Parts: sequence; structure tokens; C-alpha cells
Amino acid sequence: MITFDINININININVNLPHNNQAMPDCQTAILKPIPALARYTTYIQLPGTDPRAALLALCGAADGERTLAGIGQSLVSLLGHRIDELHAFPQFSGRGIDVPSTPAALLLWLSGDDRGEIVHRHRKLNEMLAGAFRCTQVIDAFTFDGHARRDLTGYEDGTENPEGPKAVATAISQRPGIAGSSFLAIQQWEHDMHRFDAMPSHEQDQCIGRRRTDNEELDTAPASAHVKRTAQESFDPEAFVLRRSMPWAEGERCGLVFTAFGANLDAFEALLKRMVGEEDGITDALFSFTRPLTGAYFWCPPVQGGKLDLSALGL
Ligand code: HEM
Repeated sequence: MITFDINININININVNLPHNNQAMPDCQTAILKPIPALARYTTYIQLPGTDPRAALLALCGAADGERTLAGIGQSLVSLLGHRIDELHAFPQFSGRGIDVPSTPAALLLWLSGDDRGEIVHRHRKLNEMLAGAFRCTQVIDAFTFDGHARRDLTGYEDGTENPEGPKAVATAISQRPGIAGSSFLAIQQWEHDMHRFDAMPSHEQDQCIGRRRTDNEELDTAPASAHVKRTAQESFDPEAFVLRRSMPWAEGERCGLVFTAFGANLDAFEALLKRMVGEEDGITDALFSFTRPLTGAYFWCPPVQGGKLDLSALGL
């Protein structure tokens, strides 16, 4: 029985770390595949005009281990360095049917995770000092988990139930394309909930909005086409639109919501999901928009890790 368990682990490892030709492939930033941390800080940076970002990026390669500090690089920075990553492009902006989905690009994103807020604050301060020659931090969102292992959104619904797991999570989130193998692409949006509006809805209406029953997380057969899980049913797309979601609640003063965080081997699945949510396909908008709205939206390339350091060879560094 014990031997059987060990065999399973070895098989999963091989799938995760080796491409088809059995040569070791660069690792991905492990925060992508790990369970959501207890606490996190999402922070974005602009690149300072007239500065050369290379030295700061090389310093970041050693400081961002991909596990406690995940780094994502925006399209503007990739092109400033004279390179192109085919999968990376501008975040789409939508406006219509009473919905605004903004595109708010940034040069750099760091996702700092941990379980001690003070330690995260100090880590962030040091990173800012290290990057100061070429980057300025423009946004900080402190995020957390709600209800321990249940990983709930602040509305009380479990978030992440239909996430792919094991080798499927790796195939969904991690690119194996030669040249960037081990990379991932991150779609991120800060959503702000109107909790007064949400609380004013009867609980069966809240369940219809999500398409699941909050009390037991059961999917509702009778949910309308606007229900969030009907809009985003990953297997209903052609091709299937799987993403690996690692979203976390945020709160500041009286404001709160969700930092929607999704990783993919490219951005196609996220974009297909978002288009259906805003009604681009059939004019039906996601019922989520009745109580929450996105304030930001950006895409980032999360480079692979080689020998414990970020591998920026795709950018010539
Ligand atoms: C405030 C924003 C959002 C909230 C509160 C939210 C919440 C939820 C909840 C409660 C579920 C059901 C449980 C689960 O499978 O995780 C869910 C499912 C899902 N959500 Fe969201 N979500 C938000 C935004 C988004 C966005 C922007 C996307 C993609 C563009 C998205 C994609 C998905 C997907 C793919 C599923 C699984 C659907 C399935 O295959 O059954 N969500 N979400």
C-alpha cells in the first residue's frame, strides 16, 4: 500500500517537470500551483521614463523566488527591452450594457505571499528600494483568505471549486512552448463588491446570481443563463476554456471585493470567459455585475525559474 502511494507521487513529478523529450524543463514560479496563501500583497509598478530597467530586473531575478514572491512582467516592459512574447498582449477593455471593464496595464506586478503581514510589508519595502532606479510602485492591494480551507469570496461562496488539479492544473497554467517553457500568463482584476446591494438580495436570488447554493456549494440546475457559473462553465467553450484561479479577497476601510487572479499557458481561455461574462456572445451579461465591478484589469507574463532565479533569457537578460 505504501509502495503504491510512492509510485503515484513519482508519476506526477515526471509529468510536472519533464516535457515530452524527457529533458528537464525550467520550473515555473511555484506560487502558481501552490494553494492560496493565508495573506498576500499584490503590488504593481510603472517603469520610470528615461531609465534603463535592466539592472533592476536582474536584481529582481535573485529576489523573486517565484514561491513567496511571484513576478509578472507587462507588455510595455517586454517591448521596451526590444522583445516580444507572442501570448502577451493588452488587456481588453469592454464598455456597454451598463458594464465597464477597464484595462489598466502596468510594467511589473509582484504577488507577495506569506502568513505574517509585517514580514510582507518589510519584504515589499526592500523590493521597492531595490527596484527604485527604474520602477515606482503605483498600487498595493493587501489580500487575505476567508474561512480557511473553504477559500470563500467575501459573499460567502466557495471560490475555486472547479479549478483543474494535479497534472491538469500544470497543463492549464504552465506553457511548454520552447523558448518560454515554464512560463505562465496572469490575468488579474481588482473587483469591488457593493455589499449593501448584495445583502439586500434574498438568499435564493444570491444563489441564482452565482449558480451555486452557498450553504452546500451545490450547482443549481435551475440557474438562469446569466448565473456566473453558467457564463463561465469551462467545458462549455470550444475549445474548453480552463484557467487556474488563485483569487483572494481584499478589504480596505469599508471597501472590499476580490482580486481575481487567473493563470493560463496563454490568455485565450480567460479572454473567452470574460467575453461571455460581458455579453459579447449572446447579449446576456453575468449576474455578478449586479453587485460587483472590476476597477482594474491587466495581463502579465510570469517568467520561468532556473536554478532558483527568475529566468529572463526570453528578454535577452
Ligand atoms: C468578483 C468577481 C468574481 C467572483 C466573486 C467569482 C466567484 C466565483 C464563484 C463563487 C464560483 C463558483 C465556484 C468555483 O468553481 O470556483 C466561480 C466559478 C468560476 N469563475 Fe468566477 N468569480 C469572479 C470573477 C470571475 C472572472 C472575471 C472570471 C473569468 C473571466 C471567472 C471565471 C470563473 C470560472 C472559469 C469558474 C468555474 C466555472 C465552471 O467551470 O464551473 N470568475 N466564480
